[in-house]
Amino acid sequence: MGMIIAVNGKGGTGKSTVAGLIVDYIASKKLGSILAVDADPNSTLSDVLGIKIEQTMVGVVDETSKKKDSLPAGMTKDRFIEMKIQESIGEGSDFDLLAMGRPEGPGCYCYINSVLRNILNDVIHGYDFLVIDNAAGMEHISRRTERIIDKMVLVSDYSVIGVRSCVRIYALAKDMGIKIGRFFLIINKLAGSLDPLKGEIDSSGITLAGTIDYDEELLCLSLTNKPVSDIKNDRVRNSIENIMKNIMER
Ligand SMILES: Nc1ncnc2c1ncn2[C@@H]1O[C@H](COP(=O)(O)OP(=O)(O)OP(=O)(O)O)[C@@H](O)[C@H]1O
Ligand SMILES: [Mg+2]
Repeated sequence: MGMIIAVNGKGGTGKSTVAGLIVDYIASKKLGSILAVDADPNSTLSDVLGIKIEQTMVGVVDETSKKKDSLPAGMTKDRFIEMKIQESIGEGSDFDLLAMGRPEGPGCYCYINSVLRNILNDVIHGYDFLVIDNAAGMEHISRRTERIIDKMVLVSDYSVIGVRSCVRIYALAKDMGIKIGRFFLIINKLAGSLDPLKGEIDSSGITLAGTIDYDEELLCLSLTNKPVSDIKNDRVRNSIENIMKNIMER
């Protein structure tokens, strides 16, 4: 059974970038098969990874509801949708990609989240790693999409607010009794000493997995719509290696 790594944190802190760097690290070190999951309705993980989304989960659900009379005999609509979504998983050379897409309304979010949960429970047997890029904030936590996470990686930018935001997500997940193996904190876009954040980090109770410097090249890659796997800067690669070693060890 594969390891599920989910990435979360405040908006714009670098969740998708970090999720992409994690996928790239696992692929380049050939640690095992990977399913990257873009669970953010405002999908960007495919850009970060440099592969095209052919079909989203929402797209499959919409298509299926249009032809609801032609379900195979003996198959429920939900089962059929799950089967079609599994067929729609995009296959890259080093990893596969599943994208949630953007549901139309709040009711649809609940439905698509429960479909996602079922799919993840199913497909986890076929991969060594699932790396999930989540939407910012806590909503999917309160909807319990996160029930089966092994490693929850909380990404903060170089700010007190970023760290506090991670602490809130951590506290909510704990309060709700969600089964998460371990929580880790990453300080991304570090542009100076870690000292001003030390107090917040120490009192957070979350293990610091490591830091990633503010890096012009990373920013440039996103500005030119290039995948993070193009990164040349060894400092970023070394940071991710260090972070992943910490995450995998514990
Ligand atoms: N270490 C870094 N150094 C410089 N720029 C970075 C770094 N990490 C991420 N960025 C840039 O910050 C921007 C936001 O990153 P990203 O999209 O990964 O954040 P996010 O948390 O996924 O955002 P959202 O909440 O919108 O999903 C991007 O332009 C990205 O290239
Ligand atoms: Mg993102």
